[in-house]
Amino acid sequence: KVYKDYFYYEPAFNTHDGGYVPLEEPNIPQQKLKIPEPLKPDKETDTDMYYTVISEAGESQIMPGIKTKTWGYNQPLLGKTIIFKRSKNIHVTVKNELPELTTYHWHGLNVSGDIDGGCHTPVYPGESKVLNFKCDQPAATLWLHAHPCPSTAEQVWHGLATAVVVKDEHEASLPLPRNYGVDDIPLILQDRRFHEDNQWDYHKDYDPDGVQGPTAMINGTVNPYFDVTTQKVRFRILDGANRREWRLHFSDDLEFTQITGDGSLLTHPVKFTHLMLTCAERAEIVVDFSNYKPGDEVILYSDDVPIVHFRIHEFAKDDSKIPNDLFKMNAPEVTPDTPTHKIVMSGMDEEVAINDKKFNMQRIDTKQTLGSCEIWEVTNSNDCDGGMIHPYHMHGCLFQVLSRDGKEPYPNETGLKDTIAVDPNETVKLKVWFDHPGVFMYHCHIIEHEDGGMMAQIEVQDPKNPQKFNLMDMDTL
Ligand code: C2O
Ligand code: CU
Ligand code: CU
Repeated sequence: KVYKDYFYYEPAFNTHDGGYVPLEEPNIPQQKLKIPEPLKPDKETDTDMYYTVISEAGESQIMPGIKTKTWGYNQPLLGKTIIFKRSKNIHVTVKNELPELTTYHWHGLNVSGDIDGGCHTPVYPGESKVLNFKCDQPAATLWLHAHPCPSTAEQVWHGLATAVVVKDEHEASLPLPRNYGVDDIPLILQDRRFHEDNQWDYHKDYDPDGVQGPTAMINGTVNPYFDVTTQKVRFRILDGANRREWRLHFSDDLEFTQITGDGSLLTHPVKFTHLMLTCAERAEIVVDFSNYKPGDEVILYSDDVPIVHFRIHEFAKDDSKIPNDLFKMNAPEVTPDTPTHKIVMSGMDEEVAINDKKFNMQRIDTKQTLGSCEIWEVTNSNDCDGGMIHPYHMHGCLFQVLSRDGKEPYPNETGLKDTIAVDPNETVKLKVWFDHPGVFMYHCHIIEHEDGGMMAQIEVQDPKNPQKFNLMDMDTL
C-alpha cells in the first residue's frame, strides 16, 4: 500500500494568527547541499566516547555576497552531526562561547533531567560543563538545540541546532543505506527571511504564532542541489523550523519509504508519496532513484515550492530490499491504577497555554514515578474552524502513540516518538514511561508557543532514591 495523503486536517494547514508566510522559490543559483561533517570524538574507546560541543557565533556564506551573522555548534551555522553509539558511556564537554547563556538540549535523548539540557541547566558565557551519561536507546535521528527560557526560539533561529545520530547493532544489521555523506544524508529543514545585507532579524520578524521566513534553508543551504550517486539514498529529515510544517513530495510523485519516526525504526516500513512533518519531528526515508538516468533531475517540494534538486548521476544497481520487520515495540505495560494525565493545549499567539496555565519554571505541573508506564491524553482545544495544529513534545522519554481520537494512529506512528502533532479538536493517547529521574519539560514545539508559555514540566522520581531537583527561576537567569 502506498499512502498518498498527509493525514492531518487540511483546513488547519498553515493556520497562523499573525499571518502565515508562504515559501517562495529563491531567486539565486543552485548551490551544492551542505552536508554537515560528523563531529570527531576527542577520544573513543570500546566503552566510552568523548566529545566537545562549542556554541559559537560567526558568519556564513548562505546568500551570494555579504555573509550572514549566524550561530552554531563547532562551526558558524548549525553544527556537525554528533554520533552516539548505543551502550557506550558518553562524555560531552559543552562550552558556551556566545555572548549570552544557553542550554544544550538533547531532543529525543533518553537521559536524566540534569543531562537533558532544558531550561534549568544554563551554561553561562565563557563557561563549560561536562555531561556524562550512558547512551541506551534504539538507533534514530535526534537533535541538539538550545533551550534557554524564554529565548529558545531566538537562539534556534540564530542557528543553534544540529543532528544527533544514535547507532545500534540492530540497525547496523539491516540492509539500509548508511554511508554517511554519500547515501545517508541529514536534511535539516528550516526557513528564514533574509533582510538587507543578507542578515536575519528575529525581532523584526517576531510573531507569537511562530517566526517564519519565505526562504527554505536546508542544512544551511538556500536552493540546494544534491548529487545522487547511488540508486538508494536515505534521508534523515528533521523539521528544524521554528513554526513551519513541511508537506513533502517529489516530482513525478515518486514513491519513498519511511523507515524511522522520531525515536526508533518503525515496526514496518511505510510507503508514501506525500509526507507532512511538523516542528521537531523526524523521519528517515529511503528513496529509490532506479527509474532515473544520468542527467535527470528529481525535485523535492514542500507544498508547491521546490526545496531540493537531486541531480542524477551514474549509479550501480542495488537490489537490496528493506525488510518488512524493522523494529519490535517493547513498551512496558500500563500500571492499571494510575490516573491518566490529561493535557490540554489551548489558544494561539499570546493566548497559548497548557491546562489553562502559562509555563512557570518554579512550578511542577505533574509527577510520574520512574519506570511506571502511564497514559497521557493530549488534547488540542483549538477550534476546527480556524484553529492550528500543535506539535506536542516531551523531554526525557520516548513514547508510544496508542490512538488518535480513539482511532488507529497514522501508519508511520508505529515506532517510538517524542513529538506528536495534534489536530484542532483532537485527542491523542500516548503510553509514556521514564527511564531516568529529573524535571522534564513538555510543550508545543512551535518554538514561539513554547517560549510564550505553552509549556509545563513533570518531576520524575525514583522512590528508592528520592532527589531534590534544583529549579531555576526566570529572574535568576
Ligand atoms: Cu526540542 Cu523542549 O525541545
Ligand atoms: Cu526536547
Ligand atoms: Cu502550538
